[in-house]
Amino acid sequence: MDKEEIEKYAINHTTDHSETIKELVEVSEKNLEHIDMLSGRLVGRLLEILIKISGARRVLEVGTFTGFSALTMAEALPEDGELFTCEYNERYENIARTFFEKSEAGSKITLLMGKALETIPTISGRFDFVFLDADKINYPNYYEMILPRLEQGGVMVIDNVFWSGEVLDTESDKAQAIDRLNKMIRDDDSVEQVMLPVRDGVTVLRKK
Ligand SMILES: C[S@@+](CC[C@H](N)C(=O)[O-])C[C@H]1O[C@@H](n2cnc3c(N)ncnc32)[C@H](O)[C@@H]1O
Repeated sequence: MDKEEIEKYAINHTTDHSETIKELVEVSEKNLEHIDMLSGRLVGRLLEILIKISGARRVLEVGTFTGFSALTMAEALPEDGELFTCEYNERYENIARTFFEKSEAGSKITLLMGKALETIPTISGRFDFVFLDADKINYPNYYEMILPRLEQGGVMVIDNVFWSGEVLDTESDKAQAIDRLNKMIRDDDSVEQVMLPVRDGVTVLRKK
């Protein structure tokens, strides 16, 4: 089975994005070189469905990029839902803010600029849904910082847990950090999890 072909097949049989999100993807593709950072339709729709079936209302995202996953999740939240998203790159911020302003769902989003390990503690309260998708080197630090603030029964989704397969043979610092987090989660009795071979690997966990 050709992995790329089957992924295309999966994408083509997954609900398409809203018009605003399609435009956001186009603008990101046109203006930026690191477009592969955008998590894409499979992960986006997975987040959206998980938010809807879990009834999440208060979401934290670490790693906004141009706002694709933030806006996708915000569209899935109820009207009184809130989403906090952390980014430190101003170039990405501009595109994200433009689309948050354009979309009705954007009013649920608060974008925090700065290093996420510094901005997350400035947000008060607890979260019932978390999407971890920023600097891989800090994945274990984010987990330790955020898990105590995740509600019981809350969900955390972590992207790029395979790091293009490098977790099997960890040479780079990033692959080592991701592998460390994967093992922390495996050995953590306070959570139950599934590691899905979707795109670059996605872990979905639930706090018991
Ligand atoms: C993989 S991209 C996020 C993609 C986005 N979630 C999506 O699906 O479209 C990771 C983002 O995290 C940001 N980032 C990296 N390190 C960060 C840090 N320490 N604090 C805040 N943002 C950071 C990067 O600038 C980048 O935009």
